[in-house]
Amino acid sequence: MDRLVTFMDSGRPVVLVTGGAGYIGAHTAKALAEANFLPVVFDNLSSGFREAVRWGPFCHGDIRDADAVAAALDAYPVAAVVHFAGLIEVGRSVTRPDLFWDVNVTGTGRLLSALAARRVPRLVFSSSAAVYGSAGRTALETIPETAAKDPASPYGDTKLAGERLIQAHCRAYGLSAVVLRYFNAAGADPSGLIGEAHEPETHLLPLAIAAAMGDGPALTIFGDDFDTPDGTCLRDYIHVTDLAAAHVAAVRAALAPGAFEAINVGTGFGCSVRDVIRTVGAAVGSPVPTVQGPRRTGDPASLVANPARAQTLLGWRATCSALDRIVTDAVRWESQPAYGAGRRQRQPELRSQFAA
Ligand code: UFG
Repeated sequence: MDRLVTFMDSGRPVVLVTGGAGYIGAHTAKALAEANFLPVVFDNLSSGFREAVRWGPFCHGDIRDADAVAAALDAYPVAAVVHFAGLIEVGRSVTRPDLFWDVNVTGTGRLLSALAARRVPRLVFSSSAAVYGSAGRTALETIPETAAKDPASPYGDTKLAGERLIQAHCRAYGLSAVVLRYFNAAGADPSGLIGEAHEPETHLLPLAIAAAMGDGPALTIFGDDFDTPDGTCLRDYIHVTDLAAAHVAAVRAALAPGAFEAINVGTGFGCSVRDVIRTVGAAVGSPVPTVQGPRRTGDPASLVANPARAQTLLGWRATCSALDRIVTDAVRWESQPAYGAGRRQRQPELRSQFAA
């Protein structure tokens, strides 16, 4: 564990960021530091990167390890926890539901027990639009928080179970919690210091950029026969900087003890797969090579937020999530030799996934 003396002396409120070495976690740690909090990152580095921990101390540990969680909470005067640590790949959750329930639900339970024992008052939880079902909704309808919960994957099931466990802790122990249901996080910090780096990468935007840069195979478009304006899926792409700002607002929100709030984090506008492909081609200066493939199992035609509640409850709305801005920032990140494409080229085992 890093030494904390200089940070403790700074007098800034401490926020423990589990999973803070990952994509959204690192951007949130930066936003917290800029808002005058001290982000302490707790991460097992199974998918995050040590070099993404730049804005506060680092505790190496697994969220399921009660002793490691307790050690981090006892080492710092934690005022709030932002909980990202978890598994995210929808496809892998289908083949390894046991692992997803263990990390995402048991891990969240361990964290909650440790928070209750120490009376930590505030939790912000990384949830997902994956908790919603798609039945009975047309492609052009946005999703309010009250929409039916009917996850299409074990990943979505674990996020919903995590939410319910948190809500029960709010009632039982007076914790106040905000669960943020993300739509499609995308883009990179404009500084170019941090960005999206999943291994393996399955998300549309980085794959499209890699293809346009000649650093990956042609992009497979998963289905063109959806009931949407151009036949490809609609998603609500939210700039990771906007998403990070929503977490800061949730940490600061005035909530009574025991309050539990679930809030969509999106823009309210849907972009199609073809919109993303066109925008990436323009930003890279070279078209995205594509091949048409069948639908991917579990992909709903449309996932677009109704973000009104975020504005009302958190005073938050997206300000930098225009698609061309998201893409420009992502391309800047992917173009750097030290990150993005450069990192893929230096890692043969990673590159082989792109050659498949
Ligand atoms: N897509 C392709 N080709 C690809 C990859 C993706 O056509 O190679 C399409 C998908 O079919 C989908 C869209 O691009 O229509 C976006 O796909 P992503 O994999 O980038 O993201 P998802 O919408 O599947 O999932 C993301 C997060 C989930 C979260 C969900 C909520 O990864 O954790 O958003 O909106 F649950």
